[in-house]
Amino acid sequence: MRVGFTYNIKKETEQVSEGQDQKVQNGKNFPGNSVPGNYIDENLISNYSHRISDVYAEWDDEETISAVENAIKKAGHDVIRIEADENAFEKLRAARPDIVFNMAEGFGGASRESHIPAMLEMLNIPYTASDPITIGNCHDKSRCKEILTYYGVPNPGFFITDTHVNGYPKVKYPAFVKPLHEGSSKGIYNSSVVNNKEELNREITRIKENYNQHSIIEDFLDGQEFTVALIGNGENVQVLPIVGINLDCLPADFPKIYSYEVKWYFDTRENKLDIFSCPAKISEKLTRKIEDICKRAYHALRIRDWARMDVRCDSNNEPYIIEINPLPGILPNPDDNSCFPKAAREVGMNYDALIQKVLNLAIERYGIKK
Ligand SMILES: Nc1ncnc2c1ncn2[C@@H]1O[C@H](COP(=O)(O)OP(=O)(O)O)[C@@H](O)[C@H]1O
Ligand SMILES: [Mg+2]
Repeated sequence: MRVGFTYNIKKETEQVSEGQDQKVQNGKNFPGNSVPGNYIDENLISNYSHRISDVYAEWDDEETISAVENAIKKAGHDVIRIEADENAFEKLRAARPDIVFNMAEGFGGASRESHIPAMLEMLNIPYTASDPITIGNCHDKSRCKEILTYYGVPNPGFFITDTHVNGYPKVKYPAFVKPLHEGSSKGIYNSSVVNNKEELNREITRIKENYNQHSIIEDFLDGQEFTVALIGNGENVQVLPIVGINLDCLPADFPKIYSYEVKWYFDTRENKLDIFSCPAKISEKLTRKIEDICKRAYHALRIRDWARMDVRCDSNNEPYIIEINPLPGILPNPDDNSCFPKAAREVGMNYDALIQKVLNLAIERYGIKK
């Protein structure tokens, strides 16, 4: 088959000149101003400057893009690369692939992840993963939680605002403040856990100024965190082994959150944090509960083919959905601690098999004859 492949690529050379990168390279003004200087290692900064700024955090690098392309080729298909930029529609229209493997996180705007699926829908070209409605709903953290709540799927209490507030309505601190529609921990720093009205308003201002969007303010769940990979459609959705996130391995003065600092800065190939365990060492009962809420969330949002969900427990060990990623991150190198490929490896599905499975799920879903 002629398989189109849509993606956004990190533009590494341009980024170093971005304002935010400069700030970080100085080692002092990490966004949020919350990283103590002694954690900033010059060597890491020079090797990972392309990852430290969160401007392009959601996009993929050439290593990932080549790995996906090769996996599709190994299944005997021709691959047509289509970068998801402003020319994407014309390129798709001209190429008219039989199906598209979509992993484009989008170019800009709150519904950026929906742009490519919407173009493909308009052009009547089949594609992997969820449709523009589902992807848009998941990308807006409040819309996603409103749907989950309607279907009775547990998620932390919340409100949204883009102006200063008099406090958390139910006066519950600590609270957690994050941008309404970002991913890859963009905008989530140590300062995101707030303990009073002043800190809450400081974060609302920071998010408005840096990301030009509303904040979503949630009850802070202080229990164990997990991330859960799901694959399949309809009755055949499979929950892969749950990945446990060991937040206790963070420096003592860090809040227990999987922040931008942790995701992209401390946990590098050279300095791998011992942060994930797969399968998570938890009781059978909690495993079943997590699998149950994740499957219910998958169907509530009408997800197709695959997704990764973040889950966190409250102090009573009850799990809640934190967020849903219908275009999950898939770094190919096992040293990069990428959770979906990690969970797949646990059931004997290597990287190529994972990509091919997602493509085949979409081929089956559309009833396409190979
Ligand atoms: N309500 C919450 N309570 C406790 N921790 C949270 C909450 N929401 C988010 N976090 C922490 O912040 C991290 C990033 O939040 P998340 O909503 O997953 O954002 P992203 O889309 O950027 O991955 C989570 O992995 C978790 O550690
Ligand atoms: Mg997340």
